[in-house]
Amino acid sequence: MFAKFRKTEGQPPDRPAPDDEMNAPTPGGSPQSLIRPPASRLTESPADSKDKKRKERLQDLKIELHRALLDNLNLAALEKATEHDLRAEIQNIAGETLDQMGIAVTREERAQLNQDLYDEVKGLGPLEALLKDESITDILVNGPHQIFVERRGRLVLTDVTFKDEKHLLRIIDRIVSAVGRRVDKSNPYVDARLIDGSRFNAMVPPVAVDGPLVSIRKFKKDKLSVEELVRVGAFTEEMAAYLQAAVSTRLNIIVSGGTGSGKTTALNALSSFINDNERILTIEDTAELQLQQTHVARMESRPPNVEGRGAVTPRDCLRNALRMRPDRIIVGEARGEEVIDMLQAMNTGHDGSMTTIHANSPRDATSRLENLIAMAGITMPIKALRSQIASAVNVIVQTTRLQDGSRRMTSITEITGLAGDVVSMQEVFRYQRTGISADSLIVGHFTATGVRSHYAERFRLWGYDLPAAIFETRGDRS
Ligand SMILES: Nc1ncnc2c1ncn2[C@@H]1O[C@H](COP(=O)(O)OP(=O)(O)OP(=O)(O)O)[C@@H](O)[C@H]1O
Ligand SMILES: [Mg+2]
Repeated sequence: MFAKFRKTEGQPPDRPAPDDEMNAPTPGGSPQSLIRPPASRLTESPADSKDKKRKERLQDLKIELHRALLDNLNLAALEKATEHDLRAEIQNIAGETLDQMGIAVTREERAQLNQDLYDEVKGLGPLEALLKDESITDILVNGPHQIFVERRGRLVLTDVTFKDEKHLLRIIDRIVSAVGRRVDKSNPYVDARLIDGSRFNAMVPPVAVDGPLVSIRKFKKDKLSVEELVRVGAFTEEMAAYLQAAVSTRLNIIVSGGTGSGKTTALNALSSFINDNERILTIEDTAELQLQQTHVARMESRPPNVEGRGAVTPRDCLRNALRMRPDRIIVGEARGEEVIDMLQAMNTGHDGSMTTIHANSPRDATSRLENLIAMAGITMPIKALRSQIASAVNVIVQTTRLQDGSRRMTSITEITGLAGDVVSMQEVFRYQRTGISADSLIVGHFTATGVRSHYAERFRLWGYDLPAAIFETRGDRS
C-alpha cells in the first residue's frame, strides 16, 4: 500500500517547453487590442531558406538515387539479403550514381542518404526515423507534405515530407499489406495494429480530401507505472492510495476522457493494483494493455474482411469472455453495443471490472453510457436504465489533456446511487486549476473535495483503511 502521504510538490519535470505552445492563450496580449492573435504553431526546427533549399536538393537526389537503385537491385534477392549485404549494395550503387552525376555531398549527407535509401527499400521511408525516435508518441500525416509528431505532449510540425502522394501511398500499402490488410479506393480506410504493437489508421483519397491521412499511436513498451504517473504529476499519492483501495476491493471503474487524454495509460496503471492470483480477461480493439499479472487472457476484436465477413465484435468477445471463468474483465474501450453486456456483467458478479469511455466529464460518461445503450437499439425506461448504470458503475476517473500538453487525472468521482431518476455522484478528488503562467503552462493543484468516500466502510472491511486526512481539503498542494 502507499504508505507515505507526503505532499506532492513541484511540477512534472519534463513539461513542454514554453516556446512553441499551440493552444494556450498568451497572457497579456497587446494593449491596443482585446483580441489576441492565436498562438503560433512553430515548426520543430524552423529551417532557414538556405537549409530548406539544400534539403530539397537532397530530396531530389534521393529520388534519383532510389530510381537508380530500383533499376540495379535484384528485387527478388532483396527479401533474402542480410541487412549488412543490402546496406553495402545500396552504398555501392548510390556511390556510383553520385559519381556519374558528378555531385559532391558531404560525408554526413552521404551517410544520411544511404540510411534514407535503406529505409526506402526495406522500411517505411520517411516514417522510419520517426518510428524509431523514442521521444515521439504520435505521428500524424496530413498528406505527403505535412507530418506532425507529438513529443512530450506537444504537437509539432516536422520538416519530414514524402515526395508526393504516390510515395506516401506506397508506404501505406507496405505497412498494411505486412499485416494482411488492404487500402485503396474501394476500401479507403484501415485501422490496424502494426507488428510492433503500434496503432495505425490510414484513410486515402477520395475520402481523404487533401491526400492520404495517417495516424500512428506508437506502442510504448514501458507503460507509465503508478509511481511514474505520480512523479510526473498525473495524480497524487493520495489519489493512488484511493485507487488502489478501489481496485483491490473490486469496485467497477470507468476511466473517462477525451481522445489521447491518457485513458489507456490510466487503465493500465489501475490494473497494476489487481492481485496476481486473479484471472483477468482483456478485450480490446487493438491490444495495447500490458498487464503484469500471471493469469491474463487477451482478446482482440476484429473488423470484417474485404468481403464484409469474419467480423468479431467486442460484444462477441465479451459474451464469450463471460463463459471463460473470469475474475475480472477489462474492456479497452466501451464504444458500442457491448456496453449493455458489460453493465450486466458488472451487476451480476463480475465486479472489479474496468473500461474506458470517451467523455469530457464523469456526468457526460454516464450520459454516454445511456446513449450507447440507446444506439444498440435497447429500449428501456430511463429510470431502469439509470438504475442499472448506478448500480453497475462505482467510480469514474476522469483524464484530461490540458492545453499545455500535460495529462492529468482531473477528477475521481463516485457514483452513490439514484436520486429520483438522476444518477447521483460525488467528487472525491479534483484538479483545481488556478491560472496560467506567463509561459502558458497551466497552474493548479490536486485537492480532495472534503467529502468522505461512499466506500470508506467497504475499504475498511477489506483492510484498506485509508487515513481520514486523505479526504480532507488542503488548498496548499501544488
Ligand atoms: N500522465 C501522462 N503524462 C505523460 N504522458 C502521458 C500521460 N498519460 C498518457 N501519456 C501519453 O499520452 C499518449 C496517449 O495516452 P493514451 O493512449 O493512454 O490515451 P488514450 O486516452 O487512451 O487515447 P485514445 O483516445 O487514442 O485511445 C501516450 O503516448 C501516453 O504514453
Ligand atoms: Mg486508448
